[in-house]
Amino acid sequence: MKIDMIIIGLIAGLSGLYALHSSFGVAGVGAGLAVMAIYALLLKVKAKKPVERSLFHNIRFKLPIILVLAGIIWVMAGKFNFPVWWQIEFVSFAFVGFFFFTLLDLKTLKQEKSSWDWLIRLLATYALASSIFIVVTAQLPQFDPELELAKLNRPPLKLADAAGPEVIAAGREVFENNKCFNCHKVFWEGNSDRGPNLGTKQIGLYNNDYIKEQILDPRKKQSPGFDDPKSIKAMPTYYGDDLSEDELTALVAYLKTMRDPTHMPVEGKYGDQWTWWDDKEVLAEGQQVFEGVHPATEGLSCAVCHGKDGTPMMTGALDFRDENNKDTDKIEGDHSDKLLKDWPDDLWYRRVTRGVPNTPMAPWGMIFEHLYLWKAEAYARTFHDPLDKRTARRPVPPVPSKEEIESWTTKEMFLDPLL
Ligand code: HEC
Ligand code: HEC
Repeated sequence: MKIDMIIIGLIAGLSGLYALHSSFGVAGVGAGLAVMAIYALLLKVKAKKPVERSLFHNIRFKLPIILVLAGIIWVMAGKFNFPVWWQIEFVSFAFVGFFFFTLLDLKTLKQEKSSWDWLIRLLATYALASSIFIVVTAQLPQFDPELELAKLNRPPLKLADAAGPEVIAAGREVFENNKCFNCHKVFWEGNSDRGPNLGTKQIGLYNNDYIKEQILDPRKKQSPGFDDPKSIKAMPTYYGDDLSEDELTALVAYLKTMRDPTHMPVEGKYGDQWTWWDDKEVLAEGQQVFEGVHPATEGLSCAVCHGKDGTPMMTGALDFRDENNKDTDKIEGDHSDKLLKDWPDDLWYRRVTRGVPNTPMAPWGMIFEHLYLWKAEAYARTFHDPLDKRTARRPVPPVPSKEEIESWTTKEMFLDPLL
């Protein structure tokens, strides 16, 4: 009887005892018996004469196997919603195994002479394996059990007052702890494009009820551009059970900050995105706002002054049909030389939300929800740039950087109150 058979037999026996306790033990006995059977079979096979193998021979079979394995691991980890860093970590483990077995086969070993020889080899192999794993995994992001436990044991969030900076910060934690970043980027932050980038999409333009409904009942209203079968059901439906009332309130307060005063909102899945300038449905709604028939902007009609068909009804009101019109020069310290056709998004937004002082063009952004003002702007543009004449979509702007986002607040580009 070989010593190794005795060891495996012992493990199988112990598993058998454990099996009286738990079903894991049954699996242990099964695995132990299977290993013994395979081992006994392998011992029957006549050993080939050892030959020195080149590195190429060594990795010829291992490399394709590991590449396939790594692919499977990557896809499976993705399916189980592991963050990208974990996927990288799992795949690196597979490659550590590849490296280890390549190393083991690098040199043909001589037959062992004494039992000391195999003991030393066994220990050396164990030491080698452990040190490779320790060195490699030390380079990878660490899982800190204390930190994870602290997250689990956190006292439930209780809100005192309306959405101040603390509530927004608490909402951001709710966002992090509930793994929203696994699928959603927020502007430059995050590394997944599974769901919409809630920053460039500007989810903060929508009202609280809409945002809440999208979290609690995500299948009801599909996010534009996310209608392929793979993402249509990706957004989990269990947040209604997982989030307390206060957590939801804080989360929404955080989401409400996701707005960009310099760009039109962006829709669609990364790779096939578009801005509201080219969105048929947005333009149709923008027309309602412009013509004063949208229920959400009762009392506002751009058409009263700018004309339903673009012919100004009031002297001095900008004529949107003329693409070469210039920016107003009535605002001290704020003037653009760009012609109407080349106006950047932020100029449109600033003029419509802040108006032109001392003219009938009022700061509409102080009164009406900006969601609808962006839509009215997108529609106003069609008077000189009709949608059906466009040969290409207007380019999707680059995702704003951390510095740009910070500058919006320092330059006071947001209007107060946040509409
Ligand atoms: C497993 C991936 C996944 C996770 C986790 C996830 N989402 Fe989503 N989410 C999606 C996808 C995909 C969509 C787009 C499809 C749809 O409308 O359901 C979406 C849509 C949304 C929308 C609607 C966007 C729109 O255009 O109206 C909101 C808001 C949202 N998610 C917020 C969250 C929040 C908050 C969390 C965390 C509490 C979260 N999501 C977690 C995948 C995810
Ligand atoms: C009560 C009349 C009135 C209404 C309502 C009105 N505007 Fe104006 N708008 C004006 C006038 C007058 C000007 C010209 C201001 C000036 O003298 O520079 C103007 C100018 C503008 C400008 C150009 C600013 C510039 O830099 O030259 C834009 C863009 C604009 N309006 C968009 C809109 C939109 C969009 C709406 C609806 C949401 C709207 N306006 C509603 C009267 C109005």
